[in-house]
Amino acid sequence: MFDKKVYVFRRRQLRERMKEEKGLVVFPGNDESPMNYPDNPYRFRQDSNFLYFFGLDHAGFVGVIDLDDGEDWIFGNDIDVDDIIWMGEQPTVKEQAAAVGVTHTADLGKLQEVLSTAVQKRRTLHFLPFYRGDTLLKMSEMTGLLPGEVKERVSESLIRGVVSLRSYKGPEEIEEIEKAMEIAYEMHTTVMKMACPGIVERELAGTIEGIAAARGNGIAFPVILTINGQTLHNHYHGNVLKEGRLLVTDAGAESLMHYASDITRTIPVSGKFDQRQKDIYEIVLKANTETISAVRPGITNKNLHLMASRIIANGLKEVGLMRGDMDQAVSLGAVALFFPHGLGHMMGLDVHDMEGLGEDYVGYNAEVHRSKQFGMAYLRLARKLEPGFVFTIEPGIYFIPALINKWKKEKKFTEFINYDKLEAYMDFGGIRIEDDVYVKEDEGVVLGRPIPKTVAEIEELMAR
Ligand code: GLY
Ligand code: MN
Repeated sequence: MFDKKVYVFRRRQLRERMKEEKGLVVFPGNDESPMNYPDNPYRFRQDSNFLYFFGLDHAGFVGVIDLDDGEDWIFGNDIDVDDIIWMGEQPTVKEQAAAVGVTHTADLGKLQEVLSTAVQKRRTLHFLPFYRGDTLLKMSEMTGLLPGEVKERVSESLIRGVVSLRSYKGPEEIEEIEKAMEIAYEMHTTVMKMACPGIVERELAGTIEGIAAARGNGIAFPVILTINGQTLHNHYHGNVLKEGRLLVTDAGAESLMHYASDITRTIPVSGKFDQRQKDIYEIVLKANTETISAVRPGITNKNLHLMASRIIANGLKEVGLMRGDMDQAVSLGAVALFFPHGLGHMMGLDVHDMEGLGEDYVGYNAEVHRSKQFGMAYLRLARKLEPGFVFTIEPGIYFIPALINKWKKEKKFTEFINYDKLEAYMDFGGIRIEDDVYVKEDEGVVLGRPIPKTVAEIEELMAR
């Protein structure tokens, strides 16, 4: 946990952002979530917004900010002797709340009274969007409102207030992200050392998940580790690594305080890239390094995405897979056949930071609107970069047979795409290279210890 001053300051800032509003701001922390029966839960993950404002990594708490009288509350139940037998002694709710600068505490029965009375008195309740059904049902029960009526209390001013704070990472948060990066370094270099023909994806995925659990708070998102890197979020780990294939590993860890890292590396199973793989790899690497070099406050991430798209299109033209005017191919969306996702996303307490609040609130604003074009439409962060942002840069080139065949059949963009030559790439897979970048006053800085990224660096480590 950070010093309690951090949480007091954050809550004060949120009040400041919401000074035009009245009522109660309610942050339901998460409960344990059962896997197959109530006492057999998934790894507990506290809600990121609760963590940001109330810091307590404990199930079953609810934080409340009263905008009218200026008081903060934590509601939760103290444990009794039966719980102590199974879980051991725990600090009281009051003691835990004091550690984050909250003096008012009460049990969940009292919260029910507070919330239902607020509804009867027509006080405004501000909630963030719900992503767990059990949380919505709990709030329904406590307010006496139907779940649909609770959802009507999802508050745009609260969403905007939270985004306006969480988007800018303080030095204490960067320190946490650096810890998550160090774990990612170990995860990715371990894959590079272990990968070889004959090993099953699961052995690698399980090993790095173990590293994340041993060094921090586990993985920040389900490990993507696959010889079928053309599938963007491939969580199947049952393939045997084969000579001649590429292996995409997109994996990151949480620090003990739940800050994420998110790194992708692509390596040749054999330990050496063949010429065809090297040609495509160098294009993706150039898209990664040149966009990173261009990071500075004031540039939009939409422009960085377009820059990466142009590098990819021009590179593919040199290889003979694209043809014609590449600026046009980018603006019309033809390059999305090979690069069908966005360049990156915000990162922090969530790997896709604040995505649960609505991607458009986080990545877009009045200046930059979401495109409807295939590919560009998936760009999660498009707005101008500002000092304090942490975000990913993750260009890729993919050969997705189903998509290629569909476009070919539709004769889509035949002026830009050499479908005949593409036939030989149906078994290529995909390449993605991802780093996490911190926007400083005049430049972008790649966080973490450098993880081998050039052809020479990867081949050198794999040879060891
Ligand atoms: N690391 C997975 C993603 O960014 O979508
Ligand atoms: Mn990512």
